[in-house]
Amino acid sequence: MSELLLTDEERDRAGTRLLTLLNGHERGIPAAQVLPEPDRETLTALLSDPMPEDGIGVDALFDRWEHEILPNSTTVAHPRFLAYVLGPPNGIGPYAEAVAAAINQNCNFWQLSPAASVVERAVLEWLAEVVGFPSSAKGILTGGGSLATLQALAAALHDRVPGFRATGLQRPAPALVVYTSVEAHRSVDKAAAILGIGLDHVRHIPTDSQHRMDVTALTEAIAADRSAGRQPWCVVATCGTVNTGAVDPLDAIADLCAEQDLWLHVDGAYGALFLLCEEMRAVMGGCARADSISLDPHKTLFAPLEAGCLLVRDGAKLRDAYAFDSSYLTVAEDPLLTDYMDYGPQLSRGFKALKVWSALQAFGVNAFRTTMARTLDLARRLADGIEATPGLTLLAPVTLTAVCFAIDGVDHTAALQALAADNTALLGPVLLDGRHGIRACITNHRTTPADIDLILDRLKAMSSPPVEPAGRPLSTVDQ
Ligand SMILES: Cc1ncc(COP(=O)(O)O)c(C=O)c1O
Repeated sequence: MSELLLTDEERDRAGTRLLTLLNGHERGIPAAQVLPEPDRETLTALLSDPMPEDGIGVDALFDRWEHEILPNSTTVAHPRFLAYVLGPPNGIGPYAEAVAAAINQNCNFWQLSPAASVVERAVLEWLAEVVGFPSSAKGILTGGGSLATLQALAAALHDRVPGFRATGLQRPAPALVVYTSVEAHRSVDKAAAILGIGLDHVRHIPTDSQHRMDVTALTEAIAADRSAGRQPWCVVATCGTVNTGAVDPLDAIADLCAEQDLWLHVDGAYGALFLLCEEMRAVMGGCARADSISLDPHKTLFAPLEAGCLLVRDGAKLRDAYAFDSSYLTVAEDPLLTDYMDYGPQLSRGFKALKVWSALQAFGVNAFRTTMARTLDLARRLADGIEATPGLTLLAPVTLTAVCFAIDGVDHTAALQALAADNTALLGPVLLDGRHGIRACITNHRTTPADIDLILDRLKAMSSPPVEPAGRPLSTVDQ
């Protein structure tokens, strides 16, 4: 028997211990420290462990998970974990991950993953429908929104640069230029740098008072580049900017891209899945006009990390960019079963689609709609409370679930630390129009109105520090 398998008895033990671990984790969430102070001695000891010559066995391993890994992990599932754009996994996610690991499908070509191939395609078709893409659209699940944008821009290069596969950018030709806003996620810069466009050819277009790309400034920038002999190539608009959740004027940008013959990619990693909510369709319906869009099921569908998604309106263009012949991998193509190695850069790929598909099966899309609508309401509740409190200033309009604010007269870094230290909440920093502040982003299906009210109470206390007792200096931050 293989040394790498568990015996029947060990499997039973592992199952029991896993159940205890998962249930204990779930029950412990409300009382857990949202940002545990890591036990640095334990972590340092872990780092200095030599590679074990002999195994410690199932029970000792579970002990290590329970005593060393879990207590030193950030409690992302805490209802007041409201930092960045990151949330707790939905309830079925961990189980779907376990099943995906057990069957270990290689989602490269269909013979190695027939069920996975149709499940991924079903997920992609569902998401394409949410976005409003036509049936010609194709896509692929990725490691996240950053990779989806990178993969989209590579497809845009293949589509717009003649002979790109053969020569790359190594030929005499005008410099390609990509346009995005000053509020765009840095994954756009990263993609441009990685793909050889170069940061000098990324235009960060200014935004309006609501942090949306200024289309007049975009038009002028394109004209200036053309008259300087450069080649405008692609616009990356954002549906839900990382700082404030602003949605760029997608229809006006799509009109301009059509007129100027530019590839339009929409970074919808944070925002585009809010299209599930009827009330958001008016503001973000223009997503349907993009050439490509990135989405992040690991954000608003609460899939466990990682699950991003790229959709390309004309699926043939995605295939043109990524399909390569190789004698050792050739399989008879099947029109119903997609070979995903032809739609992205990876060969070996895990079964990411299972966790997304399973959550939609288990809970139904309505549950996600309701959850996302609730997070929108919670963000408004927080914003209303901030606006009603002297000493607190809302820094930006609230379009989605990101709420940016400042507390008069405090050091925001210290305030963030204080909020985490007393377990009020983990919030994040923000810098908007040169002003430092705090950002709460409710990408959390566990957050309740009571959690928001608790945070508001604490912020109110911070914004009106106690009267200074005689002879004692008043700290700028509530202790
Ligand atoms: C607007 C936007 N784009 C891209 C990303 C990057 O997504 P990921 O972390 O999945 O790579 C984020 C992450 O928060 C984001 O908010």
